[in-house]
Amino acid sequence: MEPMDTGPSQTGPRNQGHFFSGAQHMSFAGSTITNIGRDANYYITNFPGNKPKEITAADLLLHTPQVPDVFTGRSHLVEEAVNILCETKQVHVAILGAGGIGKTSVALHVMENPLVTEKFEGRCYFIPCEMLPDATLLIQGLVQAIGLQVRQGKDSFKLLLDYLRGGQHLLLVLDNFETPWGSKGQTEVKNLIERICRCKSVSVIVTMRGTEGPGQIKWHKLGGGSGLPPLELGAAKEAFCSFCSDGDLTIEEEDPILQNLLIQMDGMPLAIMLMAQLAREWPLKNIMERWNHQKTAVLKKFGMGEQENRLTSIEVSIKLTLNIVREKLSPTGEDVLRLVALLPSGIPDWLENLPKMLPDATMHLDDTTTQALILKKACLIYETGDKALKILTPIGEYIMKSFQERHNVENQVSVFYESFIDNLPRNPSEENGQLRLHIGNIYKILEIQIKRACAIGCKIFEMEVRAEFE
Ligand SMILES: Nc1ncnc2c1ncn2[C@@H]1O[C@H](COP(=O)(O)OP(=O)(O)O)[C@@H](O)[C@H]1O
Ligand SMILES: [Mg+2]
Repeated sequence: MEPMDTGPSQTGPRNQGHFFSGAQHMSFAGSTITNIGRDANYYITNFPGNKPKEITAADLLLHTPQVPDVFTGRSHLVEEAVNILCETKQVHVAILGAGGIGKTSVALHVMENPLVTEKFEGRCYFIPCEMLPDATLLIQGLVQAIGLQVRQGKDSFKLLLDYLRGGQHLLLVLDNFETPWGSKGQTEVKNLIERICRCKSVSVIVTMRGTEGPGQIKWHKLGGGSGLPPLELGAAKEAFCSFCSDGDLTIEEEDPILQNLLIQMDGMPLAIMLMAQLAREWPLKNIMERWNHQKTAVLKKFGMGEQENRLTSIEVSIKLTLNIVREKLSPTGEDVLRLVALLPSGIPDWLENLPKMLPDATMHLDDTTTQALILKKACLIYETGDKALKILTPIGEYIMKSFQERHNVENQVSVFYESFIDNLPRNPSEENGQLRLHIGNIYKILEIQIKRACAIGCKIFEMEVRAEFE
C-alpha cells in the first residue's frame, strides 16, 4: 500500500495561511477565470484549446473573501457554532438562508475564532464552492485547499479520503455549496459530501442558499430551520453607521430617514451595506427619494469599473436564487411569489388562505401549496411564527418590478377579501383578531381598486373632452 499522505506540515505559525496551506505550489500561468452570466458560475479555462485546467490553491485563495470587519448582530450565532464545534467530536453545521443574509460572513467569523483554530490546530480549510461546480472539481479543490500532494498517476479521491480518515481533527468550510449541489452531477456531489461527513474526525460547515442542507446528513442548522434571520433594527443601524464611518461623514443613528430606510432594507445585510455605500455620496433624503422611484435598482455599487455580481448588486443576488428555483416554478408559483410580494401583511394562516386567494390555480390542480413550499425552501419567501407567508422587502420590491403585473391575481385576491369582510365573526374580539392579521392587505387591495377606478375615470373624462372638441 502507498504510504498515506499525512497532509501539510503543521509546524508553521498557527493560523498563518491556514486557509490554503498548499498555496506554495500554486501556478496561475495561462489561466483565466470567467464569471459567466455575472453570477456564481465560474469556469476555469486554460489556453490554448480551452482544456479544463486543474484547480490550484491560488485559484481558491483568489475566491476567498476576507473576514469582514463590519459584523453586527450575529455574536450569539457565532458563539453557538463555536460551542458545538469545540464541544463535540464531530459536527455538521449548515448556515442557510437567502442570498446576502450573511452566511459567508458568519462562516468566516466562526472559522477564525481562536477557540476553533485551537481545537483544530489550524486545520481549518475554506473552500469557495462557487468555482467547483461538480464532484470532480470539488475533490480537486479539497486536495488543493488542504495541500495534499498528488503523485503522478495516483487517485486524488483516494488520497483525500485516506487523509480525512487519518484521525486528525479538521474543519472544512464549504461555502456556496448551492453551485455543486445544483449541478447535473448532484448524485455524485451527494455521495461525496456524505462520504466526507462519515469521516469521524472531520467537522463540516456548509453555507448554502435555501433552507435544506445537502444529502442525508443530520445538519445542525444555525439560526433555526428557516436559516439565518435578518438583522434586528439595532444591529442594522450599527452596521449601517460602521459602513459609513470613514471620512468626515457622520450619520445620526436616530435620524428618522435612516430608520425608514433601514425598515425598507428589512435586516438584509447585503442591502444595508449597499445602501451605506450610497450614503457616502448622497444625503439620506436623496437616497430615500431614489429608493422610492427605482427600488432595488439603486442597491448596487456604482464606482467606476465596478462589476455587477451578487455581492455588488442586490438584483444580481436575487436573480441568482430565481435561476436556481426557475425549473421547479410553475406559473402558479410565480403568482404565489407575486402575491406574497404584493400583500404587506403577507398571507396569514397561509395553508388555509392561500388556496382560497388563488382559486383558479387550485381548480386546475396546480398546487399552490407545493409551489409555496418550493419558494420557501429557496428562501425567496419565509414563514413567520404565526404561520404567515412573507417576503423580505428588497426581494418583494424586486419581484413587484420585474414580474409582469397580473390583474387576474389581483382580481382573485379582491374577491377573497370581499368574502372575508362579509364573513367576519360577529364576536367583536374575534373580529378584531382576524382584521388585525389582514388589515394591511385590505388597505392595499382598496388602494389598487381606487387607482384602477381613477384610471378608468380619467380615460372617460379624456374621451368626453375629446368628443367635445371634435
Ligand atoms: N452581520 C453583518 N453585519 C454587517 N454586515 C454584514 C453582516 N453579514 C453580512 N454582511 C455584509 O453583507 C454582505 C453579504 O454578506 P455575505 O456573508 O456574503 O452573505 P451571503 O453569504 O448570505 O450571501 C457582505 O458585504 C457582508 O460584509
Ligand atoms: Mg455567501
